[in-house]
Amino acid sequence: DWTMAGFRDAKIAEIREQVGDGKVICGLSGGVDSAVAAVLIYEAIGEQLTCVFVDHGLMRAGEAEQVVSLFRNSYNIPLVHVDASKDFLGGLKGVTDPEKKRKFIGAEFISVFEAEAKRIGGADFLAQGTLYPDVIESVSFTGGPSVTIKSHHNVGGLPERMNMKLVEPLRELFKDEVRVLGRELGLPEAFVARHPFPGPGLAIRIPGEVTEEKCDILRKADSIYLEEIRNAGLYDAIWQAFAVLLPVQTVGVMGDYRTYDFVCALRAVTSVDGMTADVYPFDAVFLSRAATRIVNEVQGINRVVYDYTSKPPGTIEWE
Ligand code: XMP
Repeated sequence: DWTMAGFRDAKIAEIREQVGDGKVICGLSGGVDSAVAAVLIYEAIGEQLTCVFVDHGLMRAGEAEQVVSLFRNSYNIPLVHVDASKDFLGGLKGVTDPEKKRKFIGAEFISVFEAEAKRIGGADFLAQGTLYPDVIESVSFTGGPSVTIKSHHNVGGLPERMNMKLVEPLRELFKDEVRVLGRELGLPEAFVARHPFPGPGLAIRIPGEVTEEKCDILRKADSIYLEEIRNAGLYDAIWQAFAVLLPVQTVGVMGDYRTYDFVCALRAVTSVDGMTADVYPFDAVFLSRAATRIVNEVQGINRVVYDYTSKPPGTIEWE
């Protein structure tokens, strides 16, 4: 019989076999997948693993601190925290095309990993928390013509010049299975139950040009929205919820003043594997409370809309 404990043991053996006495660098994105991959690989090869958490400046509020403290306090896994926000934000300047954003971010991650590998005296492998749906959606539309929907930041292999090979122990798994594996490995429930967060981060939640100022505005709106979701006891009923900052300004009125600020879209979906999704049917009271708080508390946003599109035809992220 197939069990997750059996899967874990088989993967540990497989990783040992693949890696031998080589060194592995694992990119932590702050999400569940890469964290589970890291802990699994650590169980397999211990200190041959170095984790690298790349703060690209496109994280949500408090995210970098949460990941670093989870790894430093709960595990003894060697962890390097790289602040690369200047390089990422600098490189995104003037970039508005969604695929160009994704490709730039993917390449930038690779160059940070390369630099870190050099710093630890060379690494033979790069580990990532790639899942089965990431692979499918980056490659083609099942059954249809071969069209890339989105280039996932961590799919597509490594550049030729790199002498590293990939270790991707979760490549056969869906999200719900990764969570089961995470629990099996003893990761804290609050971490395992976190909503997915894409590697390219807030960059794909800011259609148009990404700036630090827009990231700051979006972080504030997003954290109010999630706080309201938690207060309403809805976090675990939702697959993923987030705010999007639109490159559209509209006219509003605050007190006696005219405002001309950005529109914020709220998204919340239910899903099993992220491949298809339904809109989460908030009640009007919830939505108007969230909208009122965001407009009142976040300077730069004066209008809030709710995204009522399922997947398909929409995707979960806006880019
Ligand atoms: P879409 O927007 O394609 O998203 O419907 C499906 C799920 O995948 C997440 N996502 C990503 N995760 N790297 C990731 O690690 C990426 O490049 C990426 N793009 C989308 C998305 O948040 C959703 O959970």
